[in-house]
Amino acid sequence: MEPIYLDHAATTPLHPDVLEVMQPYYKEFFGNPSSIHSFGRAAKTAINGSRDFIAGKLGCLPNELIFTSGGTESNNMAIYGLLQTNTEKKHIITTRIEHHAVLHPCEWLENLGIDVTYIPVDQSGLVLADDIESAIRPDTALISMMFGNNEVGTLQPVEEVGRIAQAHGIAFHVDAVQALGKVDFDLAALPVDLMSFSAHKINGPKGIGALYISRAKRVAPVFYGGSQERKRRPGTENVAGIVGFAKAVEIIFSSDIEHRSHQLRQKMVDCLQQELGKDGFILNGHQTKCLPHIVNISFPGVGTESLLMNLDLEGIAAASGSACTSGSLEISHVLKAMDLPDDVTSSAIRFSFGMGNTMEQIEYAAQKTATIVNRLRKR
Ligand SMILES: Cc1ncc(COP(=O)(O)O)c(C=O)c1O
Repeated sequence: MEPIYLDHAATTPLHPDVLEVMQPYYKEFFGNPSSIHSFGRAAKTAINGSRDFIAGKLGCLPNELIFTSGGTESNNMAIYGLLQTNTEKKHIITTRIEHHAVLHPCEWLENLGIDVTYIPVDQSGLVLADDIESAIRPDTALISMMFGNNEVGTLQPVEEVGRIAQAHGIAFHVDAVQALGKVDFDLAALPVDLMSFSAHKINGPKGIGALYISRAKRVAPVFYGGSQERKRRPGTENVAGIVGFAKAVEIIFSSDIEHRSHQLRQKMVDCLQQELGKDGFILNGHQTKCLPHIVNISFPGVGTESLLMNLDLEGIAAASGSACTSGSLEISHVLKAMDLPDDVTSSAIRFSFGMGNTMEQIEYAAQKTATIVNRLRKR
């Protein structure tokens, strides 16, 4: 059996059609988009066309999209940039289960005198909109909450929190890095001011993403330099990356990935149930309000690290949500925030599905997982 990749929440392989449309922008259309000659103009035209296309799919205006280097930069720009537009307001509300690309900028801002409230979640990883509303203060500048969690998949009440933010006149940022192409939404209808995206999670290239900034909001730049992106994100544009991002958006929006991921996820759960029985594992995260491509499963009695290593030896790539520091796995901040028992947090692994996965692969991976779990439990 060929190696089986079940870690699409970490990154995805570049789609061959994406590579194909990118290549000319490294070769014949290599010009600097700021140059006025034909080489420059060809590059600029490609950027404009890509921006128009992505904006059309997301339901926003082209000039509401800024290209960045990815999800991390978009999140940082949203948070720092928004806070800088009104220095009177010194309070941010976010949640305990955000990606580090939100949590760490917030922690840094705390060093600079900004107050941050980290909203807890319930045992399914769900944020309660009421908890967010209760945390609002007269000096709250920003609410930042993810669309869907990258470790356990739980979808958050984006629309409800957006309405609350709107009613209080507070800016609302959503990290939609895992949701893009996997969950239907329309920026024209959502009460969201800022939204982060990344291309490499949808079979696009690494190092390119975007930040949506509603035209009603002002966000100060984080970098200063040239006039690119209307001075909001200076630096020579990643033209091939932008073209590839637009192609990746086209492919994912015309695919049935949402439905298919649901099927793959269900297949994994059904097969594990067959192999290990209902009580042989625990599903973490909300099981109906969830991203279709992520399933987080604990196998009590088996360490996350041993399980991942044994799966790797069988050619199956899965992940823990945890960061690997000094050679040992740290328990994930998301599972900790969900207040799950120790034997659940220390035995959790994440499978995440994508375009190339087949039902046969999932069946095989589930069987191998069950064999390894049974073996490790007997030890
Ligand atoms: C929810 C979420 N936000 C942000 C990021 C960071 O995105 P990037 O790798 O494009 O910087 C990730 C990547 O794993 C993510 O899952």
